[in-house]
Amino acid sequence: MPSLTGKVALVTGGATKIGRGVIDVLRQDGATVVAADIDRAGLAQLDAGVDARECDITDDAQLDALVAGVIERHGRLDVLVNLAASYLDNGAETSRADWLAGLNVNLVSCARLTEIARPQLARSGAGAVVNFSSISSSVAQTGRWVYPVSKAAIVQLTRLQALDYAADGIRVNSVSPGWTWSNIIEEVSGGDIERADRVAASFHMLGRLGRPEEVGRVVSFLASDDASFVTGADYAVDGGYAGLGPEQRDPAIPLLAP
Ligand SMILES: NC(=O)c1ccc[n+]([C@@H]2O[C@H](COP(=O)([O-])OP(=O)(O)OC[C@H]3O[C@@H](n4cnc5c(N)ncnc54)[C@H](O)[C@@H]3O)[C@@H](O)[C@H]2O)c1
Repeated sequence: MPSLTGKVALVTGGATKIGRGVIDVLRQDGATVVAADIDRAGLAQLDAGVDARECDITDDAQLDALVAGVIERHGRLDVLVNLAASYLDNGAETSRADWLAGLNVNLVSCARLTEIARPQLARSGAGAVVNFSSISSSVAQTGRWVYPVSKAAIVQLTRLQALDYAADGIRVNSVSPGWTWSNIIEEVSGGDIERADRVAASFHMLGRLGRPEEVGRVVSFLASDDASFVTGADYAVDGGYAGLGPEQRDPAIPLLAP
């Protein structure tokens, strides 16, 4: 029997490419999926089998209504995937308003929704939360401050949630994807996935970008009872990005030769 059979999963940011990859895998693994996003047009493109709900995750009243709506329609909530994010970031020159807006979506909304969903996840008996961090959480990237800081904070928030929700039987973990085929990479590369793979090759041991469903498979594992003794952990889904040093993939010693 698929690992998520009978479970109900809520995925924020479900209207985007990575969101769809995660949703596809969760459904293949047996879950009923609710997608929540602020992007109405993106939600409308989801498969009819997905319960798509418009929601601004920075509004607590909308989060309350979202969780209540999931329970009303599906009767339970077992899995929460906090995937929605904002790339609002102007590096050192970011205004206070933009700092607060970026952290509000990426960090505070993750904390608020998880707390609002907590009674239902506890009732599940095997509640699982998967937060989205990133390789950006642990390396310096030029011109970016808000997003990497928010993703670093997600790793720590995950540990804190894992500790305080353990008594409710809720496990909390995060994933840190490397460069993944997504709306932003599609846009910047002009839709050329092979070109994007070539650019990513030197940063990732596996020599290419990740695919949304490759991230989805790790999310599904962490959401399932197969990960019953995994909590407070951050899982790299990055093709070896985090383990690769500045020498990258080519032998560096030969560069010493005169
Ligand atoms: N793209 C990558 O290569 C990459 C790498 C590492 C980690 N990630 C992480 O993966 C996740 C998805 O990234 P992506 O590149 O697909 O992002 P994206 O910007 O394409 O999608 C983010 C989604 O969040 C939704 N969203 C934004 N604000 C919202 C709000 N207030 N309420 C509800 N929904 C809101 C957007 O509408 C969108 O559908 C993010 O958490 C990101 O940090 C992405």
